Amino acid sequence: MKVDVSSSSKAAQHKHLVLDQGGLDAARNSLDEGAVTPSYGPWRDDVVKLLNDALATELVCVLRYKRHYFTANGVDSPAIADEFLVHANAESAHADRIAERIVQLGGEPDFAPSHLLDRSHAAYDESTDLQSMVRANLVAERIAVEAYRQMITLIGDKDPTTRRMLEDILSEEEEHADELKDWLGH
Ligand SMILES: [Fe+2]
Ligand SMILES: [Fe+2]
Repeated sequence: MKVDVSSSSKAAQHKHLVLDQGGLDAARNSLDEGAVTPSYGPWRDDVVKLLNDALATELVCVLRYKRHYFTANGVDSPAIADEFLVHANAESAHADRIAERIVQLGGEPDFAPSHLLDRSHAAYDESTDLQSMVRANLVAERIAVEAYRQMITLIGDKDPTTRRMLEDILSEEEEHADELKDWLGH
């Protein structure tokens, strides 16, 4: 028997684009939740945890770049040392954006220095020569790129604002990694 499934399956696929009135009504309640409405879903704690680990990573990156900037001064490539400071400031700005988002989500940004390194994806580094510094920073940037890419995939459409912020930060980490790669061997 020949069954025409094309029209019925098309009808099943065609779902009208309408808002969920229940969700809109629910947004009138729980005002102390600020930007987080009831439809946010059950993963807020997971997102805050991911963001706090990213915050720790950014803060460790600030410290590593600052250490490198101040100790690399006077070596034969001061332009690269100056770029370490530019990167330190960029990582600090990333940390600020992440901390702000954690607070918007009702979480607490974790700046506790005692366990920053435990939570950071990237390592601190005390290399004393410029090439080792560049290499250590490139490794850290590549780890940051990988971590942000995974976070973006995990968050998907669960939290568009967080995802957009992470996509912005990811593109800057990719620029950092690209610059550092160019400085390898200089
Ligand atoms: Fe960063
Ligand atoms: Fe970076």
